[in-house]
Amino acid sequence: MAKLKMAVIGTGGISNEHIRGYINNPDTELYAFCDINPERVKAMAEQYGVPLERTFTDKDEMLKALPEIDAVSVCTWNSAHAECTIAALNAGKHVICEKPMAMNAEEAKQMLEAAKRNNKLLMIGFVRRHGNDCEVIRENVDAGTFGELYYAKATYLRRNGNPGGWFGDKSRSGGGPLIDLGVHVIDLVRFIFGNPKPVSVYGVTFQKLFNRPNVYGGKAWKAASTGVEDICDVEDLASALIRFDNGAVLSVEAAFSLNIKKDEGNIELFGTKAGAKLDPNVEIFTELNNRMVNIGFAQETALSFDGLFQKEIDNYVDAILGKAECLAPAEDGVEMMKILDAVYESARTGHEVVLN
Ligand SMILES: NC(=O)c1ccc[n+]([C@@H]2O[C@H](COP(=O)([O-])OP(=O)(O)OC[C@H]3O[C@@H](n4cnc5c(N)ncnc54)[C@H](O)[C@@H]3O)[C@@H](O)[C@H]2O)c1
Repeated sequence: MAKLKMAVIGTGGISNEHIRGYINNPDTELYAFCDINPERVKAMAEQYGVPLERTFTDKDEMLKALPEIDAVSVCTWNSAHAECTIAALNAGKHVICEKPMAMNAEEAKQMLEAAKRNNKLLMIGFVRRHGNDCEVIRENVDAGTFGELYYAKATYLRRNGNPGGWFGDKSRSGGGPLIDLGVHVIDLVRFIFGNPKPVSVYGVTFQKLFNRPNVYGGKAWKAASTGVEDICDVEDLASALIRFDNGAVLSVEAAFSLNIKKDEGNIELFGTKAGAKLDPNVEIFTELNNRMVNIGFAQETALSFDGLFQKEIDNYVDAILGKAECLAPAEDGVEMMKILDAVYESARTGHEVVLN
């Protein structure tokens, strides 16, 4: 069987993970690159051995010039996700689009419609669905270990970790830590809960500290290809309470900049038979003969980045080939964008947002 010809639109930081995934997948050929930044696309092509005649600075030109492309990764900044994804779908390509799916739910719905209209796969880069920690938790959900999961707490908090560049520029990011970091943990909890629909959201956002580039000692998350002055018109902290249609509730906090002792990322799950936490290792909290017990695992259960994106890319390729079910379909991206829109709307109005 001929290998699938894969193109990457947006050859910045995260594209390296997609590219390595295609290089290592036996069913794919790394075929073409596109980035609006000509130096970047050339350097990446040289690094990964993509012929220069298959590099482009305009996605439409690439899609027209190379009709043999089978599938695409969209790894641009967020404001270009919808236009690049819809163009690729309309050209008859399958697409994996990085998270967040889009700038808002309206764009996300248009992307989903384009996938349906063209009968192509649209997968979203919810990479944590492919994590080893998620696998352990889901095995236990399926085995009934937790009983009914009815509440979760999720945090993704950086003390001083605004990446700068487009991440702080709302016109290209759509928002700050909520849409960039919160999206990962909200989606993971929703996935563990069995993908219930959100029914109401109460959210708050704060912009008190901005990006604090002057503060020494923060972790240096820097956007790879900003090329612009650091802008910061996004929130630096978001917090929300999200209620789902199965009665479960998630409390989430995400920050780029916060006066906290150290960076924190954790998910805690609470069920009728047991609870759990994911970080740094999965632990389960339950009862045994009328005693409270904490269960740890003999094998490593901390989220490992080793092979994480490879699993995501392999799932994308297998789903295209009909060998596996797509673990992160576009429908879940749309639900996520509804949640994110609702948090920002609630924060703006000061009231709960009811979704239908
Ligand atoms: N899954 C994860 O854990 C994870 C991690 C980091 C970033 N991301 C996501 O990946 C995306 C990219 O992030 P990044 O850190 O790689 O950013 P980046 O700035 O390093 O790269 C983005 C690239 O997109 C290019 N670009 C912008 N508009 C374009 C267009 N219309 N056509 C072609 N190229 C275009 C830019 O020139 C840039 O090179 C974002 O959506 C981000 O949220 C996901």
